Amino acid sequence: MILNGFNEKDFLENYWQKKPLVIRQGFDEPNWISPDELAGLACEEEVESRIVMQETGAWNVEHGPFPEDRFSTLPKTNWSLLVQGVDQWSPEVADILKSFDFLPAWRLDDIMVSYAPVGGTVSQHYDFFDVFLIQGEGSRTWKIGDVCGSHSECLPDTPLRILKDFESRMEVTLQPGDILYIPAKYAHYGVSVEDSLTYSVGFRAPSICDVVDGVGVECLLEDDRFQDSAQSLQAQRGEIPKSAISHVKDMLLKVMDDEQLISSWLGQYVTDKKYPEFDLPTSAADNCLERLKAGESLMKHPSSRFAYIKQAELAGNESEAFLFADGEKYPAKLALASYISNQYELDSNELVLLLTDVQNQELVTELVVAGNLIFEDDFFADELGEAN
Ligand code: SIN
Ligand code: CO
Repeated sequence: MILNGFNEKDFLENYWQKKPLVIRQGFDEPNWISPDELAGLACEEEVESRIVMQETGAWNVEHGPFPEDRFSTLPKTNWSLLVQGVDQWSPEVADILKSFDFLPAWRLDDIMVSYAPVGGTVSQHYDFFDVFLIQGEGSRTWKIGDVCGSHSECLPDTPLRILKDFESRMEVTLQPGDILYIPAKYAHYGVSVEDSLTYSVGFRAPSICDVVDGVGVECLLEDDRFQDSAQSLQAQRGEIPKSAISHVKDMLLKVMDDEQLISSWLGQYVTDKKYPEFDLPTSAADNCLERLKAGESLMKHPSSRFAYIKQAELAGNESEAFLFADGEKYPAKLALASYISNQYELDSNELVLLLTDVQNQELVTELVVAGNLIFEDDFFADELGEAN
């Protein structure tokens, strides 16, 4: 699915992670979820949601899940409801992602949907995400300011990161179907002109802190420790000599040079579960192949994330890969790993062919046990509260 009037090559060369862009009428019928359905999601325990409001000058954030009657007690204007990860709960919203196929799936964070009556805003801020703001129903006026960073001052004593200073460099009013792309760190805010829905498709990029922290905590052992050299022992007792500094640098360089280790971390990081506290429903895993042969459909759980790394790129092994699923790493045949990671929907016949290989069969069973893959019938039965 291609966005109307959109030139991918021009976008990737000139705008992606560089500067904002307005894409008029990128979508024809942006009615993927109604305000009532969104409010319904915000009442669910597993769903992350917030209501942002300015009351008597002070900014207030209430976190969901909300009791149903919360919505009837809200004022007519000047508030926003924000619901994270709506792509996990609404197949219609998840389908929006197919229009962003020109970007790697593993860079995606989620689709947040916000509803705001007239005047609703979360005020001036910046995100560390690249975001496509798609206007659903209604309209919203966006102002975009300068590039910010850790140095940018925020208002004190607010539960939101609201920028103290904001100078508008660009203003645009989005109508249903319009898209505004804002690169990470650009100051921005939108104000609802009329009751409106905005879909934010967010792409995250790990910071150097995430990398160093993550590699350190998740991949390194405590055993590898600093060792004194004869040279560093000769220094004055209070002096940290250059040779000690070089040794610490060598310890870091050894880690930085270890592509296996860094690839393991990256695969796990980008597929990590967004809400690890919630268990996935599972199918029985003892007869996967028979169920597929009988024509049953296996699906990727909507909240599961998959990515793979070709082993050829690491160890010269053409047909092997590592598959990452919800933060777990599995050695896998490249054919299976790429099929699962690249496809939106899995075809039973294709899977039956892949499962003639015993290693593939074992891996699919493991993924079914973990809940990353689930038979459609079991998934929908669970949604209706019939299973588990
Ligand atoms: C909103 O949808 O109101 C806020 C989205 C954003 O600024 O990132
Ligand atoms: Co934002």
